[in-house]
Amino acid sequence: MNINIFENADEVAVAAGNVFAEQLKVKPNSVFSFATGSTPVKMYDYLAQLNRKNEISFKDVTTFNLDEYVGIESDDVNSYYYFMHKNLFDKIDINCENTHILNGKAEDPEKECEDYERLIEQSGGIDIQLLGVGVNGHIGFNEPSNIFADKTFVVKLTESTIEVNSAYFPNNDIPLSAFTMGIGSIMRAKKIVFIATGKTKAHAVKEMAKGDISPKNPASILRFHQNAYIFLDKEAAALL
Ligand code: GLP
Repeated sequence: MNINIFENADEVAVAAGNVFAEQLKVKPNSVFSFATGSTPVKMYDYLAQLNRKNEISFKDVTTFNLDEYVGIESDDVNSYYYFMHKNLFDKIDINCENTHILNGKAEDPEKECEDYERLIEQSGGIDIQLLGVGVNGHIGFNEPSNIFADKTFVVKLTESTIEVNSAYFPNNDIPLSAFTMGIGSIMRAKKIVFIATGKTKAHAVKEMAKGDISPKNPASILRFHQNAYIFLDKEAAALL
């Protein structure tokens, strides 16, 4: 694990964004897997800026998002589909036909998961997987559990995650389950870029880097990845 600690979240965004920018220079048709949450927003802004200045292009890029709530319409302001378009895809020259996000309203969830895995495989695999972390150590929506899931699946969200998410769902119609790429789908990426900022993440970061490697502490599995780059601000790194 290659751990890099920065002064603040702006510096984290630039350092992590530069990994994607460098990759695009080497392989313009890269396959990226993107994450949602507040943490990557600054990095997406930075990538959009580089794109505007014509320093990088996404026109041949393919993307797969990590996860999506079950039961949510894509045009719902809380869907990850909406998030990705608002925070990145609408601001860059990507061909939206090459962006993939699990369909929260899929009639056959099992088939949705199988199709997604097949698409990832057909794309040649993920070159860079972006990850944030939940306060309970989840990655994507791989919640603390007794097993590491291999492939994309439907997960029941934990109370702690539901509570964190409730801030975004004022009407109390908080999704209780989600689609997520599995730990195996994440670990098969050729490179991992993990970002965490702020003191609320310090405990999860410490557990990831130093705790037991266990499905009860999902992010800890990243210690077994050969090419994982961890970008933290001082607050998130405070307990290391
Ligand atoms: C959600 C997403 C995760 C993300 C996490 C942290 O649970 N499924 O992929 O890492 O939120 O979000 P934030 O960056 O807002 O703390």
